[in-house]
Formats: sequence, C-alpha cells, structure tokens
Amino acid sequence: MEEIYVNAEYFKYDNPIPSTINRKGPRSSKRSFYSGVTLSLGLLSVLLLIGLITLGVYLHDSTASLSATSSKLSSMTEERDHLKANLFAMRNNLSAVTEERDNLMANLSAMRNNLSSMTEERDHLNARLTEKTKELERLQSLSKQNKACPAGWRKLSCSCYLLSERSDSWDAARKDCRDREADLVVIDSSEEQMFLATVTKGNSWIGLNDKEQEGQWKWVDGTPLILSNWMTNEPNNVGDEDYPQWGEEDCAHDRGIRLWNDISCSASFKWICEKMP
Ligand code: BGC
Ligand code: CA
Repeated sequence: MEEIYVNAEYFKYDNPIPSTINRKGPRSSKRSFYSGVTLSLGLLSVLLLIGLITLGVYLHDSTASLSATSSKLSSMTEERDHLKANLFAMRNNLSAVTEERDNLMANLSAMRNNLSSMTEERDHLNARLTEKTKELERLQSLSKQNKACPAGWRKLSCSCYLLSERSDSWDAARKDCRDREADLVVIDSSEEQMFLATVTKGNSWIGLNDKEQEGQWKWVDGTPLILSNWMTNEPNNVGDEDYPQWGEEDCAHDRGIRLWNDISCSASFKWICEKMP
C-alpha cells in the first residue's frame, strides 16, 4: 500500500501527464473504470439473480415433475408386479390345462382305439348272429316239416288241422281250440282254403271276426284280412239292420264250399282248429 501511495506521489509531482493524453487526469479515469466495474458487477448480479430465479423455478418444476414421474413409476412398477404375478399364475394355469388336455387327448385316443376294436367286434358278432339266426330258422323249419301232427289232426305244410265233433258258439269254439294249444283256423292261402274243403263239407267257424270294429275283419292271430273268400253280398251284417232277430253278425264261418258268411257269434257250428306240430 505504501508503494502505491509513493507511486501516486510520483505521478502527482514528478511526472505530470501531458495535456495531449488526458485532460481530466488520473482521478477521473479511475472513477470511470470503477463505475464500469460496478456497473458490470451490478449487471452480472442481476443476471445471476435472474439465473438463480430461473433455476429455482426450473428446479421447482423439475421437482414436481420428478415427484409425479416417481409416483407414476411407482404405480407402474406396482402394476407391472401385479401383471407379473398374473402372468405367472396364468402360466401355471396354462401348464395345468395343457397337461389336462394332453391327458384327455391320450384318453380320447385310447377310447377311439377301444371303440374301433369294439365296433369291429360288434360287426363280427352281428355277422355271426345273422348267420346263426338263419341256421336256426332253417333248422326250425326243417324240424316243423318233419314233425308229425297229433293223432286225429290232419297236416298241410307246417300246420295241423282238426274238425270239432260238436257244434257251439264262436267263443266256445275258440276256447276249445286254445285248450288244445291251437286256435281257430287262419286261412292265408288258396291252397289252405282248398285243403279245408277236404276237412269239412259243412258250416264251420273260422278264426275271423269284426268284433272290435264293425267292418274291420281280423284273424285271431292279429293279421288283417288280405285273402278273402266271402260269398256274394257278404259280409252284410244283416242281423244288425234288416233282421234284428239274428243279432249283429261279427263272426265268420266257412259254408263248407270254400266260401264265407258273417253271422251272429252266438250261432252254433262245428269249427276247425289249427296249430303247429
Ligand atoms: C243271409 C246271411 C245271413 C244269414 C243268417 C242268410 O239268409 O244271406 O247274410 O248271415 O241268413 O243266418
Ligand atoms: Ca251275413
């Protein structure tokens, strides 16, 4: 400091500054230098202050944004963990389901194989059954053909026939046949009809009636009437309409001339029974 003042004195007394360089002198130059410095420092301070404020605002905003981002990240992390747990559980589920599916597929395949072999076996058995049934039918037919009729019965083809000795109503006639393990005759071929003409020449009950429904003639074995040998103008159910004294004519009899008539079931005739040997 002493040196500065010494130099100042030197400038003051020994080296006067030439008037051409600076008329205001060293004091004025220093002042303007200091003013500039002060101004610069002031400006710098203002700039620094603005910078600090801006930085503060920026930092505030950043902190808020950081906080929001952090909370978002936290919730996303939570969600991710949740999804991970779900994914894990689903993977486990998928694995179990896949295993079950594989088991089921294996079962299905085994069952298909089983079904296939069972179908094959069934077809084989069906074929054998058909074969055996045919053989049985053939044997039965042979055995029937070969079987003789009981004494007093006459044979035609696979049936035996018997003409009753007495006369009675249609119902009594049928009962008698059933008692003999037979039934009233069912005429289902012209050959049979011709044959019956050799069994009897007189009236005889046959197994035909329309008791259930008028006009619906049925054989005693349940078969409908296909081959018929009615006399002219029969069946006329005449007792029901014009001759009430005869009663309703719901039963059929053979006149012994290969022709039939409907008459009251309470009329009295002989009858023909039929049965297998
Ligand atoms: C008729 C028959 C009737 C019978 C009754 C005859 O004169 O032609 O249709 O069934 O009498 O006995
Ligand atoms: Ca009649």
